[in-house]
Amino acid sequence: MADMMWAGRFSKQVDDRVNDFNSSISFDARMYRQDIQGSIAHATMLGECGIIDRSESEAIVAGLQEILADIDSGKLQIDPAAEDIHMFVEAELTKRLGATGKRLHTARSRNDQVALDIRLYLRSEIENITSLTESLIETILKIAENNLTTIMPGYTHLQRAQPITFAHHVCAYAQMLLRDRERLADTAGRMNVLPLGSGALASTTYPINRQRVKELLGFDEVMQNSLDGVSDRDFCIELASALSILMMHLSRFSEEIVMWCSWEFKFIELDDAFATGSSIMPQKKNPDVTELIRGKTARVYGDLNTLLTMMKGTPLAYNKDMQEDKPAIFDAVDTVKLCLKTFIPMLDTMRVIPENMRRAAAGGFINATDCADYLVKKGMPFRDAYKITGTLVARCIEKGVTLETLPIEQYRELCEAFDEDVYNAISLETCVMQRKAEGGPAPERVKEQIEYVKSKLRDRT
Ligand code: ARG
Repeated sequence: MADMMWAGRFSKQVDDRVNDFNSSISFDARMYRQDIQGSIAHATMLGECGIIDRSESEAIVAGLQEILADIDSGKLQIDPAAEDIHMFVEAELTKRLGATGKRLHTARSRNDQVALDIRLYLRSEIENITSLTESLIETILKIAENNLTTIMPGYTHLQRAQPITFAHHVCAYAQMLLRDRERLADTAGRMNVLPLGSGALASTTYPINRQRVKELLGFDEVMQNSLDGVSDRDFCIELASALSILMMHLSRFSEEIVMWCSWEFKFIELDDAFATGSSIMPQKKNPDVTELIRGKTARVYGDLNTLLTMMKGTPLAYNKDMQEDKPAIFDAVDTVKLCLKTFIPMLDTMRVIPENMRRAAAGGFINATDCADYLVKKGMPFRDAYKITGTLVARCIEKGVTLETLPIEQYRELCEAFDEDVYNAISLETCVMQRKAEGGPAPERVKEQIEYVKSKLRDRT
């Protein structure tokens, strides 16, 4: 570290402890590709605008391409002692090109450079997470298609409430994930604005062409205020927030799977390859994956909090606090990818046990609403029908029977309007089939829902 780039201003070496403390290479090295991509665009523009010689611009571009290839192939190791990835690439370029390499940083600061690199990096990570989210949605649709008539109890307050199908239930998650995908697209859209050219904070005196760099790097617009250009981290916060919501959905789904594979429910059985055993209890088969997803959701929420708190007291423009953006947002991105990559095959291989769902649906009087509706269809006001049905349920509980097995005489004792056709009206199949309002569990409606989700997946923006 004898040759710190700011050595001219300083009369002493920086203390090793400060160097270590200050360094971000351990976590920003992963942006080497984006750093080089941004520098290539910058150098190209500098050459085109006559800010540096064309020949030097070309040499820089070629040098950067070589560095990229060498890092990719493992020929060049990123120096862990470098201050950050930006300094490492520039130093390597200068090592290879001599004085020409030193011209790359003309009309640029690490402040606008790092803002650019993170945007480029996250832009491609959003694409990866979007694809994973889409494959999860597809997995859910496959399960739904196989379970259009798999009757299960729908719950409120975790009490059996009304009959639905397993297809209907899992499709609710497809809808949540569609919104997650939309949020990711929105975030990517607002993120896709070029900060480079903001300089350290007050742009530059060189006649740069930001529009050209924008085109070269595929941005939609150029950031309109140089202070904002270097100090905005909204895009990290927005992404962490979209990812937190996505994790919340995965966590709810995971929680249901934990319940469903318990002996109390046994609605599903996880594949042996996606469950774990116990070190002491030989009978155990634990849903560790889903529990870890619930746990890791906390991590992603934590990352969001880190970012929000990190930004709340920083005066304009760049402050070193902002270097902490990367561990937080990278952790959120890594965690979400890891969770999705494990959750998808786990879901795909899980075995649905329709008999157990059906059995659970048959207890708990989940057709009571339909019994009341039966009387309403015979002309009775709903409130009266509700009361009569309530009394019927109480009677059933007393006798240890269900609405399906209660003899018709007992029905008629309470209300003359009941006929033999009540049994058909309250059969679970009828209850589900009749719930055919838009968005309902009737198989025909769920089929429509599946088609809707598929059409949304097709129109990739
Ligand atoms: N490693 C720094 C970061 O991640 C790069 C920007 C450094 N800028 C500065 N003025 N020290 O934020």
